[in-house]
Amino acid sequence: MIDNILVKRAFADHFPGRCDIYAAPGRINLIGEHTDYNGGFVFPGAVDFGITVAIRANGTDRARAFSMDFGEMAEFGLREEDLPEKPWARYIFGVCREMQKLGVEVQGFDCAFAGDVPLGAGMSSSAALESAFAYALNEMFADGRIDKFELARAGQMSEHHYVGVNCGIMDQFASVFGKKGNLMRLDCRSMEFQYFPFDPHGYRLMLVNSVVKHELVGSPYNQRRASCERVAAALGVETLRDAEMPDLEAIKERISEEDYRRAAYVIGEKQRVLTVCDALLHDDYEKVGECMYRTHEGLSREYEVSCEELDFLVEIARECGVSGSRIMGGGFGGCTINLVKNELYDGFVQRAVKEFAAKYGHEPKIYGITISDGARRLE
Ligand code: GLA
Repeated sequence: MIDNILVKRAFADHFPGRCDIYAAPGRINLIGEHTDYNGGFVFPGAVDFGITVAIRANGTDRARAFSMDFGEMAEFGLREEDLPEKPWARYIFGVCREMQKLGVEVQGFDCAFAGDVPLGAGMSSSAALESAFAYALNEMFADGRIDKFELARAGQMSEHHYVGVNCGIMDQFASVFGKKGNLMRLDCRSMEFQYFPFDPHGYRLMLVNSVVKHELVGSPYNQRRASCERVAAALGVETLRDAEMPDLEAIKERISEEDYRRAAYVIGEKQRVLTVCDALLHDDYEKVGECMYRTHEGLSREYEVSCEELDFLVEIARECGVSGSRIMGGGFGGCTINLVKNELYDGFVQRAVKEFAAKYGHEPKIYGITISDGARRLE
């Protein structure tokens, strides 16, 4: 997390008066990828990378926000027609609008913010931003009365309505509900969840960031979601959560080959999350890792959200004897998440960095994972 003092200083450089400090984290996801918008299970945890905001009401009906990372100021009103131009400011504006829809009388504010969640890494920098603001606005203008699920939903809906990504609830949920040392298994249909203390004895979870982001035309994330919805409609069920492989086989002739592959991945992944939960209860981390590799295969071949660089990193992991490795998050670049035995860690990191750099001309970045608390007020 960014040091509070730096953010306070940036606030003081641009605005008068005192301020409060809020923060919200990015996330990892052990397993359950592209299952959230299919009513399935996910298994995320919050990390100690996040967004820190210094903020205070300014007594007007306009917001002024200073992004320390972009070195830019945005000023905007709070009505629907006031949508700001700067892409980063749209996330904040979207959260203001969604909080208003929840009945919060959002008023003008001044803020400065900065983050250390790597952008485009699949670690949910945008959810961190949304959750930090949703949490702060709730404290400032609603005395904290909006419940945490609604805060997560406000972040998700701001993506749908003001950013154009029809994401599921996982990222914002993890950013709001995160708990130090715990992963969370969320059932995205019932929204019931459980905390799972996660301290894999003898193993480490780590991320390898390829630092590539393939900007693909035509919103491929939304296209994946649309495929799933088409198959669910063909099956006459609400989401693929209610489908099993024999159901899918039965309609194979009526759907495109591509939609079939997408749905087959989702149905397999739904089961893998449950297998992983069971394995965790028995401290069977090799089983957890095996499932991670299978998820990667599905994401790469059936769901087609991986890319050459990420497939390469997973292959190196396999060759180094890493227990589990897969692409994490929405896909098309970003990180792999890896479950590594302690004694293999150094060797894997060295080889991954060396071989990746030799092939792609730049080094990947390595991050250890500390599972941390969700959105909160710091000062
Ligand atoms: C992105 C979305 C999430 C989820 C993941 C894939 O991070 O924001 O809702 O769908 O992709 O699991």
